[in-house]
Amino acid sequence: MTTMPPAPSLAALLSLHGATAVVTGAARGIGRADVAAALAEAGARVWITDVDEDAGVAAAHALGGRFVRADVAAAPEAARVLDLVAGSDGRVDVLVHNAGVCPLRGALDIDEALWDRVLDTNLKGAFFFAQAGARHMARAGRGGSIVDVTFIDALHPTGRLSAYDASKGGLVMLTRALALELAPQHIRVNAVCPGGVDSPGADVALTTMARQLGTTVEALRAGTTQRVPLGRFGQPDDIARAVLFFATPLSSWVTGDVMVVDSGRLLT
Ligand SMILES: NC(=O)c1ccc[n+]([C@@H]2O[C@H](COP(=O)([O-])OP(=O)(O)OC[C@H]3O[C@@H](n4cnc5c(N)ncnc54)[C@H](O)[C@@H]3O)[C@@H](O)[C@H]2O)c1
Repeated sequence: MTTMPPAPSLAALLSLHGATAVVTGAARGIGRADVAAALAEAGARVWITDVDEDAGVAAAHALGGRFVRADVAAAPEAARVLDLVAGSDGRVDVLVHNAGVCPLRGALDIDEALWDRVLDTNLKGAFFFAQAGARHMARAGRGGSIVDVTFIDALHPTGRLSAYDASKGGLVMLTRALALELAPQHIRVNAVCPGGVDSPGADVALTTMARQLGTTVEALRAGTTQRVPLGRFGQPDDIARAVLFFATPLSSWVTGDVMVVDSGRLLT
C-alpha cells in the first residue's frame, strides 16, 4: 500500500494564496458577484476581463484586482489577455470562462448574426481562452484549473434557446475533451451547470420571456421557484461556491466533471 502524505488542512485546501485567477465576463452578474469576489477572498490575485470597461474597472477596483478589456468572441484576444496577465504576475493558475450571452429567440427566427454571436462568445471564446491559459500553465509546469460556466439547458432544453443551448452543450463536451487532453499537464478542466440565477442578464432574459409569453416577470419567477425542489431562485454565491470548489485544491482529484447547481430543477 502506498503511504500517503498527511491530508492538508481545510484552510489550505480552500486557499488560493499566491495564485493568479482570470475571470471572463466579470464586470457584472455571476462573474463579478460572486465568482471573482470568492476567488479574491480565497487569496488569488484576480484579473477581470469584459467588454464593459466602466463596470469592469469598478469591479476590479472593488476587489483589489486588475481589469483588462477584451471581447472573448474575438479569438486573438485570448492570447493578448493571458500574455498580459502572465507577463505581469508571472503565472496563471485559474481561468474561469464565465462570459456569456443568452438571447431568447425561436428557432425559426434565428439569423446567422445571432447564431455567430452566441456561439462565438459562449463556445469559441471558451476554447481560445482555455487554450491561451493552458499554454501558460503547461509552460510553467505547475498545473492549473479551468472552470467553464455552462447552463442546465446544456443537459435538458427548455425552449427558445437553441443557439444558447447548442453553445452550452458544446461547452460541456469541450470541458470534458480538454480535461482528457490536459490532464498529463495537471491542468484540470471542469464545468458548473447553473439553473436560474439572479443577475442583470437573467433580468433581461426574464423580461423578454415574459413579453414573448404574455405574462409577467413576477409570474415567471414564482413559477420557477415553485418548480424547483429546493424552492428558491439561485444567487450568484451559489455558483461561486461551486467554482471555488473546482478552482482550489479541494478538488485536486477531479477533472472533466460537470456540477449541476440548480436547486434540483433537472430532477423535475
Ligand atoms: N443568470 C442565470 O440564470 C444563468 C444561468 C445559467 C448560466 N448562466 C451563465 O452564467 C454566465 C454569467 O451570466 P450572468 O447571468 O451573470 O450574465 P450577465 O449578462 O449578467 O453578465 C455577463 C457578463 O459577460 C459580459 N460579456 C458578454 N459578452 C462578452 C464578450 N463577448 N466578451 C467579454 N465579456 C462579455 C457582459 O458584459 C457581462 O458583464 C453566463 O455564461 C451565463 O450564460 C447564467
